Amino acid sequence: MKTDTELKELWFKFFEKHGFKRIENASIIPENDPSVLFTTAGMHPLVPYLLGEKHPQGNRICNVQRCLRTGDIDEVGDDGHLTCFEMLGNWFLGDCPKEEMIKLSFEFLTSKEYLGIPKERLATTVFAGDETAPRDDVAYNAWKECGIKEVFFMPKEHNWWGLGGGVGPCGPDTEMFYDTGKPKCGPNCSPACDCGKYLEIWNDVFMQYRVDKAGERASALQRPNIDTGMGLERTVCVLNGVKSVYDSGIFKDVIDFIGTKAQVKYTESDSAKRSYRIITDHLRSSVFVLGDYRGVVPSNVGQGYILRRFIRRAINCARNIGLDTKYFGDIADLFIQKHGQDYPDIKQKSEFIKDELSKEVEKFSKALEEGHKEFEKVIAGIERHKQFAKDEVVEDIISGKACFRLYDTFGFPFELTKELAKERGFDVDEAGFKKAFEEHQEKSRTASAGTFKGGLADSSYESAKLHTATHLIMAGLRKMFGPQVMQKGSNITPERLRLDFNLDHKMTPEELETLEKFVNDAISQAIPVSFEELSLEDAKKSGAVGVFENKYGNVVKVYTIGNVSKEICGGPHAKNTKDLHHLKIVKEESSSSGIRRIKAILD
Ligand code: ALA
Repeated sequence: MKTDTELKELWFKFFEKHGFKRIENASIIPENDPSVLFTTAGMHPLVPYLLGEKHPQGNRICNVQRCLRTGDIDEVGDDGHLTCFEMLGNWFLGDCPKEEMIKLSFEFLTSKEYLGIPKERLATTVFAGDETAPRDDVAYNAWKECGIKEVFFMPKEHNWWGLGGGVGPCGPDTEMFYDTGKPKCGPNCSPACDCGKYLEIWNDVFMQYRVDKAGERASALQRPNIDTGMGLERTVCVLNGVKSVYDSGIFKDVIDFIGTKAQVKYTESDSAKRSYRIITDHLRSSVFVLGDYRGVVPSNVGQGYILRRFIRRAINCARNIGLDTKYFGDIADLFIQKHGQDYPDIKQKSEFIKDELSKEVEKFSKALEEGHKEFEKVIAGIERHKQFAKDEVVEDIISGKACFRLYDTFGFPFELTKELAKERGFDVDEAGFKKAFEEHQEKSRTASAGTFKGGLADSSYESAKLHTATHLIMAGLRKMFGPQVMQKGSNITPERLRLDFNLDHKMTPEELETLEKFVNDAISQAIPVSFEELSLEDAKKSGAVGVFENKYGNVVKVYTIGNVSKEICGGPHAKNTKDLHHLKIVKEESSSSGIRRIKAILD
């Protein structure tokens, strides 16, 4: 049995041996990228470097990155889907030696010292070529040279990789599959079908292109890269011959724990199994999001909305299997224990995580109470209608629209409406509910596409300027209130910056004015922004501000703005403060206890 910890260790042992430097794990909330809500792959925090920015650790790096994907949230509960997962990755920056990468992949997968998979058990896919890029014969030949028998050519829908937001670096890839040994499901059986014969374990992306605007054609990247990713949880499963991610490691422990507390058993029905799994997955994701140092709490927008959905969905599932939500804290504890070592923020914030979970449980039960009142009104409405209808037949049916309103506004699960209706001798219009639900989904898909139009690549200099402004604001805050004031979070969209920092009071209008003036003075002095690469030690000595813990390797980038600011930071930044033109603080508010939040724009 190989555990996830062992797989991580092997990964770093292998890549460090081959000259790759281990880099830190970034926040699960992307810092300067408005194109997505969460970090969806290990490459995500590396986008500036993949687009040409120099990485302080050099051009061969590796890591493990916590990721979150919500695109398949409705599939969660089957054997393979998770919203939150860890991805092992390695990169060549500014260099694309395909043969070398394929040989490395082959060695890691087959060598007895590492994964020891017999090469007969491996199959791979390579890009078949189209108008965007030619057929990848280099990759094909490299696999053949390694002695892989089954190498499949596949079209773009299978062998092309880019970020979720549709912008940024991208390119053809080669994917590696474990062949379970099951017979082929038919003459066309290939890694593209989901019969279960081939299980994906690794993906090497040859990042030769970039997309600047979603939906537009890719253009060639001047400095190509290689980006590879291996899903940790799934690979552990495959290596151990376990069918479902939920049947191994930490997931199994949590499912077993729930089993001791719930009224309905895991194996009782497919729906019970799904509920167990959704609770497990969604609470783990909630722990990662709440435990992130960038600090997100349940709300009705952005990341907070997704978090709220995770928790509320877990509550509904708990109801299905007769699990008291008071155990959510214990479940969170199991995840905190498991992941606290690798992600110290989670451990530090353990009380906060459990607190927020129970607050959301309470809020949701209030919403449900309101929902019950609303439900009674709907029933009363139908009764009244019946009373006054003369020749018309009024059926005892709750309309799809009313069911959807209960669901959407009051968080009433459809199953609950159905159950209550039944108790009262009413029926529900299920098809009508589904229709309303789908219409709503369509609308919110369009809306979120709208929110995230633009993106990192086409607005990178705008983002860089706001990033520089963030450093200036921090410098101003520390000058005004003392060096204990630290950045607690930052988020940049093409339009504005948002900065969280610790401060014990609400800033007065005068203080805000002083701060704004401090930044605008620095802007009008036209100070060049420069960076140097220093050892952690020297960076500390130089007086640079920043997070010194959890940094791997010895070299960091320190950005200096004259004698105004010196911060450890990956960049990118504006070249000169004058490019910022003028800063305007548009809002100062509380973010959480002891943490203030400033929103500002450059006009
Ligand atoms: N970024 C690539 C992926 O997520 C490696 O598959």
